[in-house]
Amino acid sequence: MTESTPTTREPGTTSDGLAWGRRYAMVRPEHFRVDYAINPYMDLASQPDRRLAMVQWQRLVGRLLELGADVQVIEQRADAPDMVYAMNLGLALTDETGPRVALSHMRHRERRVESATAATWFAGAGFAPTVTGEDGVGAFLEAGDAFPVAGALVVGYGPRTEEQALKQLATDFDIEVRGFRITHPGMYHLDLAFCPLDEVTALVCPAAFDESSAAALLSLVPDAIVLSEDEALTFCANSVVVGRTVVMPACPGRVRRELEGRGFAVDLVDVSEFHKAGGSVRCLTNPLDILVGRDLEPVPGGGVLLA
Ligand code: ARG
Repeated sequence: MTESTPTTREPGTTSDGLAWGRRYAMVRPEHFRVDYAINPYMDLASQPDRRLAMVQWQRLVGRLLELGADVQVIEQRADAPDMVYAMNLGLALTDETGPRVALSHMRHRERRVESATAATWFAGAGFAPTVTGEDGVGAFLEAGDAFPVAGALVVGYGPRTEEQALKQLATDFDIEVRGFRITHPGMYHLDLAFCPLDEVTALVCPAAFDESSAAALLSLVPDAIVLSEDEALTFCANSVVVGRTVVMPACPGRVRRELEGRGFAVDLVDVSEFHKAGGSVRCLTNPLDILVGRDLEPVPGGGVLLA
C-alpha cells in the first residue's frame, strides 16, 4: 500500500482495499447496558447479557488482530453505557501538522459524559482536539456519521450530526465535506446505511436518505452494492473492512454473493448483544489512521457540498 497515492481499480478487478482501517480504538465493554432509549433499537426491558457482550467484543478484537489490524483499548466510564460505541467518540484525522481529532458533540445529553473521557484519551494518544460544540451549545457532530470517500469527507446529517458541523469540519481541516441528509429513524448514523469497501465499492442503502441525497451518494460510488431497507436493518452495513476481508455482524445471502463476486471475503462476527443498543461492528471500532493527503484531498479553506 503506497502512502501517498490512493490506488484505483476498475469495477470487476480487485485492489488491496482501503489504505485506512488498519488501526482502531475500541472501548472495553465493562459497563455496557441500556439505561435510556435514544434510538428505535433501545428498550430498557431488553438488557444485554454483560458477560456475553464481553465475549463477543473480545472475539471481534481477536478477529481484527488476526487480520493484521492494530487495536488500542480505551477503558469505559461506569456512567457512560453507550461509550462502547467507540466510533462516536471523535473523528481522528492526521494531517501535515500531526494527529488531530474532531471530538463528537453528542446530540443526546445522555451521551455527553463520554466527551471528557474521549478528550483525555485522544490527548494522551497525541491527537490535537477541535470541537464543533460542547454541552449542547454549538453544532452536533457524531463521528459515526463520517467516512473518507474519493478524497472528500462524506458526512450524514440530520438525526445526529447537524449541517453546521460540516462547515466547521471543512474549514478546521481544510478538506472538502460532502453532506447527505439521513431521514430514516432506524439508520440514524451514516454507518448504518453506508460502508465504503475499497476505492470504488461501497454498500449503500438509498432508503436511509432523502431522494436527492440517495441519488448523489449513489453517483459518488462507482460500484455501489445497493442494500434494501430490510437488508440494511440487519446491520450488515455496520461493518469494517481490513484489506479484502469484510468483518460483518450479518450478511444476507444476496449481499454475500455481491461481495464475493468482487473478491471480498465475508467474515461474520456475532455482536448481537450490542445490537440491543443500536450499534454493531463499525460502531464498536474507531479508525485512527485516516490521513489528509492520502485518504482526503487537502482543500485550502475547505468546502461543503450538500446533496
Ligand atoms: N446507542 C448508541 C446511540 O444511539 C448507538 C450508537 C451506534 N453507533 C454508530 N456508530 N452507529 O448513540
